[in-house]
Amino acid sequence: MKILITGGAGFIGSAAVRSAIARGHDVVNVDALTYAACLANVASVAEAPGYAFERADICDRTALDRIFAAHRPDAVLHLAAESHVDRSIDRPAAFVDTNVVGSFHLLEAARAYWDDRGRPESFRFHHVSTDEVFGSVAPGGISDERTSYDPRSPYSATKAASDHLARAWHTTYGLPVVVSNCSNNYGPYQFPEKLIPVVILNALSGREIPVYGDGSHRRDWLFVEDHVDALLRVLEKGVPGRTYNIGGESECSNLELVQKICARLDSLQPRDRGSYSDLISFVADRPGHDARYAIDPSRIREELGWRATVSLEDGLERTVRWYLENRDWWLALRGRNGVGKRLGTAG
Ligand SMILES: NC(=O)c1ccc[n+]([C@@H]2O[C@H](COP(=O)([O-])OP(=O)(O)OC[C@H]3O[C@@H](n4cnc5c(N)ncnc54)[C@H](O)[C@@H]3O)[C@@H](O)[C@H]2O)c1
Repeated sequence: MKILITGGAGFIGSAAVRSAIARGHDVVNVDALTYAACLANVASVAEAPGYAFERADICDRTALDRIFAAHRPDAVLHLAAESHVDRSIDRPAAFVDTNVVGSFHLLEAARAYWDDRGRPESFRFHHVSTDEVFGSVAPGGISDERTSYDPRSPYSATKAASDHLARAWHTTYGLPVVVSNCSNNYGPYQFPEKLIPVVILNALSGREIPVYGDGSHRRDWLFVEDHVDALLRVLEKGVPGRTYNIGGESECSNLELVQKICARLDSLQPRDRGSYSDLISFVADRPGHDARYAIDPSRIREELGWRATVSLEDGLERTVRWYLENRDWWLALRGRNGVGKRLGTAG
């Protein structure tokens, strides 16, 4: 397949680009190169014969039409988004622009191109979303694909809006759309404003490790390479009109997670004195912070034969090692706007 991947210079998108090329697909990487992008993430495939990069904003319909016409993709894997919840609290406008309006323009550009080609059944538009659209899940409960939406942050509200648009474009126009909702991703190349890299980088520089509230918020954790494997599986085998939940089946509280990371660092790069966990500092909670997300991945397991293969312990080990071995990558990103500062307090 030739896959048009949006957001391919970001964290998950770049993993998708690398994996798609490794599997023998051709890739057109469409990315606006916002503060969250890093072309170094795809440097390993930049010279591959099946790889092309197009710098474009998904809100720019003219650019999208040109890119579809020039590259003639067989499928779209849509990952481009504003993705950081804390930033969505401070500046929601960019989230509405990219996640809602940009997704709309991409759907429309894909529909026009698909119409033009005689509406091939084999075409796919895969819209990538989050488990945060289901809102906070009560203890013992779990979100499956039939759970009602209850988004509560500006980020999740814009993702929910774009999920509804994607499904409507299938129902109304017949565009072969598949949607997936996944849990919290982690792994190499994650931008240093998300929880796991923040913990690792603060620990390594001897700075306080901020834990929001009392650290009891619970999340399911999904290793990024497992996620990308699932995304390509959905793209290759998913049924148009269907949604697939992708979860790592690895739930833990934020405080437990931070302690696990500190324990990995203690063994891989011990401090002169004490444990990295001595740096943990409880800070004011995020406004509207959802207590728990939990996602049921039974459908993708039963229908597409996919299940996460990397345990949280192994994934954290691989992730901590990667950050220790790739200092140049993250040192270069620390100067970017807002990185390392507390954002999203609505203060
Ligand atoms: N990271 C997670 O844990 C997680 C969990 C669930 C769902 N998701 C979803 O997965 C997708 C990728 O997330 P990520 O963590 O890799 O994000 P990221 O912030 O690391 O990367 C986003 C990429 O999109 C690009 N982009 C942003 N606005 C754009 C625009 N207007 N036009 C073109 N490109 C633009 C950025 O330049 C960047 O390269 C997002 O849709 C996100 O909502 C992420």
